[in-house]
Amino acid sequence: MEQKLLRIQARALEEMAGAKSLEELNEIRVRYLGKKGELTGVLRGMGALSPEERPRIGQIANQVRDKIEEKLNDSTARLKDRIKREKLAAESLDITLPGTVFNLGRLHPLTVVTRRIEDIFLGLGFSIAEGPEVELDYYNFEALNLPKDHPARDMQDTFFITQEVLLRTHTSPVQVRTMERTAPALPVKIIAPGKVYRRDDDATHSPMFHQVEGLAVDRRITMADLRGVLQVFAEQMFGPETRTRFRPSYFPFTEPSAEVDISCVMCGGRGCRTCSHTGWLEILGCGMVHPRVLEMSGYNSGEVTGFAFGMGVERITMLKYGIDDLRLLFENDMRFLQQF
Ligand code: PHE
Repeated sequence: MEQKLLRIQARALEEMAGAKSLEELNEIRVRYLGKKGELTGVLRGMGALSPEERPRIGQIANQVRDKIEEKLNDSTARLKDRIKREKLAAESLDITLPGTVFNLGRLHPLTVVTRRIEDIFLGLGFSIAEGPEVELDYYNFEALNLPKDHPARDMQDTFFITQEVLLRTHTSPVQVRTMERTAPALPVKIIAPGKVYRRDDDATHSPMFHQVEGLAVDRRITMADLRGVLQVFAEQMFGPETRTRFRPSYFPFTEPSAEVDISCVMCGGRGCRTCSHTGWLEILGCGMVHPRVLEMSGYNSGEVTGFAFGMGVERITMLKYGIDDLRLLFENDMRFLQQF
């Protein structure tokens, strides 16, 4: 019996040494020490021993059990420790490494300038209106006094979706949509920022660009109001020393029409490369809303007048920051964008 016990012990220890997982160790525990385990089986057979032998064999059996138990606990602890260390090594967490630096984003220069323009006009009592980029021929042209065969349509060649649906070439259709919605209420005082599209692509033209439209309709609005508003805008946008001048121009939806120049932001008007030595930079088109446009939009042109203007956000951004190629604004090169 003694031999049997020692053999059990030896086998148990050997199996433990070869165990590679906590499950295996647990199986060994069950196999030897469990209710139906080998050692338990032997102990049950002790009843057959003589009274002299029983204490001696009992003692050996207890020693064997303690030994197996001790070794099992030992192996389990060591295996747990190893598993933990392997896990940590796999994670390779080094808390002394420098942290990840997250790049902070910032607003695109076109967004900065659009918001600045909005701020200025909100300060002058205008509110912000919007219209669709996919627009009807009617709003983009027809209702702006540009009938189907009008030659001025050539200057704004665009992308047609169907014969009557197109990508808007300017933000002016928002004038009409706003007046239709508001008429006959007065006053109308809105600006309309947004994307516009034209068949154009070079260093100063992009097939997609941004405009901000302006519209004021009320009794007794005059060109002096237009001049005053745009002078305030120019001073707030480009600095208090900025001067403006109006040059006669033509748009089918305004009469009279004008182009507005500001004194050159680079040379202050003395003449330089940026202003082609003229001292002036063109920034927008404008005029008094054509009576026919007022009528088509639901206003009585005998009672009310209005002014309108449209400016290019890219152009104003380029002038404000001295950017010489429009395409830089759309290439999304971080080295460029980080400068703003
Ligand atoms: N819509 C014109 C353009 O895109 C600009 C403009 C707007 C002119 C409003 C007069 C009045 O060129």
